[in-house]
Amino acid sequence: LFARECTFMQGASGLDHLPEASLTEVAFAGRSNVGKSSLINALTGRNTLARTSNTPGRTQELNFFNLGGRLVLVDMPGYGFAQAPKGLVEKWTRLVNGFLKGRSVLRRAVVLVDSRHGLKDSDRDMMKMLDKAAVVYQVVLTKADKLKAAELDAVHARTLEEIRSRVAAHPTLIVTSSEKGTGIPELRAELASLA
Ligand code: GTP
Ligand code: MG
Repeated sequence: LFARECTFMQGASGLDHLPEASLTEVAFAGRSNVGKSSLINALTGRNTLARTSNTPGRTQELNFFNLGGRLVLVDMPGYGFAQAPKGLVEKWTRLVNGFLKGRSVLRRAVVLVDSRHGLKDSDRDMMKMLDKAAVVYQVVLTKADKLKAAELDAVHARTLEEIRSRVAAHPTLIVTSSEKGTGIPELRAELASLA
């Protein structure tokens, strides 16, 4: 599946701008700057497909990417951005919650968590939102290249224990580095099984 070409379809800043629901979709969620856009680029092997940035909260739309006419990858705007004004948070909640609840073709969410930080309350809020929307999600640790092996083992064990107690969470935890390619084949295989 991931050998196929991936192309940008469109961005949606509101629920009335979503593309027509046809192909199966997988949405990427996570705190601002966690590496969602970078992970989409690593998965698809296209360095500049999804826009990455050092400025947290840069992506404020849902961005849709068509993977070989088989699967749609949805890059979602990040959350947990400390300096975000209230109005922006409300807009985010309307857009993301509305999308998660109403999207019939959405098969899976990938919740990205920074290896250096582990699960934060904003991630727990996201998982609650997914539980309520009945969207199966899987957690992925990002930026593994920034940690030593022992630190990575510790955050892996802690995170896995917590997600195992959640209802709609997929019981696997993939450790990734978009920079080094760690975990990318495993995540590709997982997503390919959904297409
Ligand atoms: P928002 O769109 O703002 O929510 O951020 P995002 O989650 O899409 O993050 P993005 O992919 O733009 O990455 C944020 C920063 O982290 C960029 O500077 C990336 O280069 C860096 N980054 C992403 N993945 C990795 C990784 O695996 N390793 C390292 N070392 N840096 C990474
Ligand atoms: Mg992004």
